[in-house]
Amino acid sequence: MLPGEFNSSKITLGMILKLGMLGVAGGIASLFALVMLVFVITAWFGMPLGIFSVVGFNHGPTQPIEFPHDVHVNKIGLDCTFCHRTVTDKAAASIPAVGLCITCHKTVGGDKEGVQQLREYYSEGQPIDWIRVHRVPDHVRFVHEAHIRFFSGDKNVVTRVTNPSSQITITDALKIDPNIKEGETITVGASQVCSTCHGDVTSMPKVKQVRPLKMADCVNCHRDNNAPTDCATCHY
Ligand code: HEC
Ligand code: HEC
Ligand code: HEC
Ligand code: HEC
Ligand code: HEC
Repeated sequence: MLPGEFNSSKITLGMILKLGMLGVAGGIASLFALVMLVFVITAWFGMPLGIFSVVGFNHGPTQPIEFPHDVHVNKIGLDCTFCHRTVTDKAAASIPAVGLCITCHKTVGGDKEGVQQLREYYSEGQPIDWIRVHRVPDHVRFVHEAHIRFFSGDKNVVTRVTNPSSQITITDALKIDPNIKEGETITVGASQVCSTCHGDVTSMPKVKQVRPLKMADCVNCHRDNNAPTDCATCHY
C-alpha cells in the first residue's frame, strides 16, 4: 500500500452513534445561534417583538442618557404628569424638553455622569433624541387623554365592576390606598392610571414595554369597558 493511500476501514456502530451525536450537538448549536441572533436583533433595535418580550428578551432601548425614573418618582416624589405634561389633555403624553430638566440640574447632581451629559446638551442647545419605547403604527390612532379621563377620578370600591367609569375593584383600590374598604369612594389620580398599560415604570432601570398593546389587547379592553370597538375608533 502506498503511503497516504486511503484505507477504508469498516463503519462501526460506534461511529454512527458519534455521528448522530454530532448531529444533535450541531442542531443544539444552531438553535442556540438562532436564539442569540434573535436576542441581538431585539436588543439592537430595542423592539418589543411580541412573544420575545414574554420570554424576557425585551429590555428596552439604551437611551442617550440613562434617565432614572425611580430617582425622580420614588426619591424626589415627582408626579408622572410633571414631566409628561400633555398626558391628561392630549393624544401624546410628551417627553419633557431639556430646559425642564435644567431647572433642577443647573444646581443638583453635578457629580453624576448623566447630569454632566445633560448640561452639555443644554449648553449646546441640542435636544436629546430619546428612543421611543412604545409606538403604534401610523394607521392607528391612540389618545392618552380619553384613557386617563376614563380610569381616573372618583371611583366606588366594589368586588365586581359593573360600571367601569364609576367603579374600581377592591384589589386595584388597595394598590392605591392599603386602608381602603369596600363601599368607600377613592380618588384615582392620573399618574395612578399609567401602570395599567406601562407597568411599574419606576422599577425599570430602562423603560421597556410590558403590555402587548396590539389590536387584540386594545379591543379586548375596549369590550370589557363598553368602549367603542368599531374600526374607525382606532384607524384613520
Ligand atoms: C423628571 C421627569 C420624568 C418623570 C417625573 C417621569 N418621566 Fe417618564 N420619561 C421621562 C423621560 C426623559 C423619558 C424618555 C427616556 C426614557 O424612555 O427613559 C421618559 C419615558 C417614559 C416612558 C416611555 C416612553 C416611550 O418612549 O414609549 C413611559 C411609558 C414613561 N416615561 C412613563 C412614566 C410614568 C408612568 C411616570 C410616573 C410613574 C413617569 N414616566 C415619570 C421623564 C420623566
Ligand atoms: C424637580 C427637580 C428635577 C427635575 C425636573 C429633574 N431632575 Fe434629575 N435629579 C434630580 C435630583 C434631586 C437627582 C438626584 C441627584 C443626586 O443624587 O445627587 C437627580 C438625578 C438625576 C440623574 C443622575 C442619576 C444617577 O444617580 O446617576 C440624571 C441622569 C438625571 N437626574 C436626569 C434628569 C433628566 C434627563 C431630567 C429631565 C427629563 C431630569 N433629571 C429632571 C432632580 C430633578
Ligand atoms: C390604555 C393604555 C395606556 C395608558 C393608560 C397610558 N399609556 Fe402611555 N402609551 C400607550 C400607547 C399605546 C403608547 C404609544 C402611542 C403612540 O405610538 O402614539 C404610549 C406612549 C407613551 C409615551 C411616549 C409617547 C408619547 O405619547 O409621548 C409616554 C411618555 C407615555 N405613554 C406615558 C404615559 C403616562 C405618564 C401615562 C399615565 C399618566 C400613560 N402613558 C398611560 C398606552 C397607554
Ligand atoms: C386598559 C383598557 C384599555 C386599553 C388597553 C386600551 N384602551 Fe382605548 N379606551 C379604553 C376606554 C375605557 C375608552 C373609552 C373612554 C371614554 O369613554 O371616553 C377608550 C377609548 C379609546 C379611544 C377613543 C378616544 C376618543 O377619541 O374619545 C381610542 C382612539 C382608543 N381608545 C384607542 C386605543 C388603542 C389604539 C389601544 C391599544 C394600543 C387602546 N385604546 C387600548 C380602554 C382601553
Ligand atoms: C381599540 C383599537 C382598535 C380597533 C377598534 C381596531 N383596531 Fe385594527 N389595529 C389596532 C392596533 C393597535 C393595530 C396595530 C397592531 C400592531 O402593532 O401591529 C391594528 C392593526 C390593524 C391592521 C393591520 C394588521 C396588523 O396586524 O398590523 C388591520 C388590517 C386592522 N387593524 C383592521 C381593523 C379592522 C377591520 C377593525 C374593525 C373591525 C379594527 N382594526 C379595529 C387597534 C384597533
